[in-house]
Amino acid sequence: MRRAKLSIIGAGNVGASCAVWAASQELGDIVLLDIPEVADKTKGKALDLAQCGPVYRFDAQIIGTADYKDTAGSDVVVITAGIPRKPGMSRDDLVQTNVKIVGSVAEKVAEHSPNAVVIVVSNPLDAMVYTAWKKTGFPPQRVVGQAGCLDIARYRTFIALELNCSVEDIAALLMGGHGDDMVPLTRYTSVAGIPITQLIPKERLDAIIERAKLGGGELVKLMGTSAYYAPAAGTIDMAEAIIRDKRRIFPCAAFCQREYGVGGYFVGVPCMLGRNGVEKIIEVELDPAERKMFDTSVTHVKELVQVAEGFMGQ
Ligand code: NAI
Ligand code: 2OP
Repeated sequence: MRRAKLSIIGAGNVGASCAVWAASQELGDIVLLDIPEVADKTKGKALDLAQCGPVYRFDAQIIGTADYKDTAGSDVVVITAGIPRKPGMSRDDLVQTNVKIVGSVAEKVAEHSPNAVVIVVSNPLDAMVYTAWKKTGFPPQRVVGQAGCLDIARYRTFIALELNCSVEDIAALLMGGHGDDMVPLTRYTSVAGIPITQLIPKERLDAIIERAKLGGGELVKLMGTSAYYAPAAGTIDMAEAIIRDKRRIFPCAAFCQREYGVGGYFVGVPCMLGRNGVEKIIEVELDPAERKMFDTSVTHVKELVQVAEGFMGQ
C-alpha cells in the first residue's frame, strides 16, 4: 500500500516539531521544506529524525529540501513558514511579513500538490488561512487553520491541573479567532461527562479560561519566541484525522459562509476532519453572551483579513 505523503513548509521550531510528532505516529513519508539559505540545516533535521526510526519503530522516508518538486503529490501540506512573535509583539504584528511568505508558499503548494489538503499554522492564523485559500485557489474545504486544537489543549491542560485528574477525560469546545479573543464555551466543557461547572467554581474557571486565552503570550515571555511542541501536536492531530480519514471533530479555522452567519471568512468552529479536509462544520447553539463574544471575535478576524488583503497584492 502506498504510504501517505505529508509535506511541511517551514522547518523551524513548529515545522520540525510537526515532523517529529508525525514520524512518531508513522503517518507516512515526510518532506521538510525551508528556504535555500538553510537547505543543509533542513536536510540535517530530516536525517536526524530518520535515524529515530529504529528506536521509535517507524518506517518512513523523511527528506529535507528547498525544492518544491520533492513535495509533489502530497496528501497533506502543513504551512508553518513565516516569522514568529517575539516578546512585546502581538500575532497581528506579523501580518505584513507573513502574508507575503504564506502567499508565495501557497502558490507553490498548489502548483506541486493540486489535490492536497492544506493545514495553515503561520500567524496571524485566521488571516493566513484566508491568504492560503486565495493563493492556492483550492476549494475552501481543502484549506483549514490550526489554532483551536492548541487553544483547547491549553484549556484542557489547565483544567486537569486544577482537578488533578487525567487530561484524557476532559472534553471541551472553543470557538472564534486564535488566542486572546477566542470564545470559551463552558457549557460544552465536561469531565467524564460531568459538566465542568459542577466541578470548578466560576472564579477559578474564569481564571483558567483567561490563562488559556493568553497561553501563547505566557510562553513567548518564558522562551523569547512562540511555542512549538503543543502547536505541532495539535497540527499533527488534524493531519492524522485527514490522512486516516478518521472524521474527528476539532475546533479549526474553517471557511464559514452561511454557517454562524459569518459571510465568507475562516474562523474557529467545530469541524469534522476526514480525507476531503473539512467534511462538515457543526453549528452549535450559542446563548446571547456566547454569540456576542463570537461576533466580536469574528469582527477582529474580518479587520485582520482586510489588512492582509491590502498586502496580498504587493
Ligand atoms: P521559526 O522561525 O522557528 O520557523 C519558521 C521557518 O519558516 C524558518 O525556518 C524560516 O526559514 C521558514 N521560512 C520563512 N520563509 C519561508 C519561505 N518562503 N518558504 C519556506 N520556509 C520559510 O518559527 P516557528 O516558531 O516555527 O513559527 C512559525 C509560524 O507559526 C509563526 O508565524 C508563528 O507565529 C506560527 N505559530 C502559530 C501557532 C498556531 O497555533 N497557529 C502556534 C505557534 C506558532
Ligand atoms: C501560540 O498561541 C504563537 O500562536 C502561537 O503559542
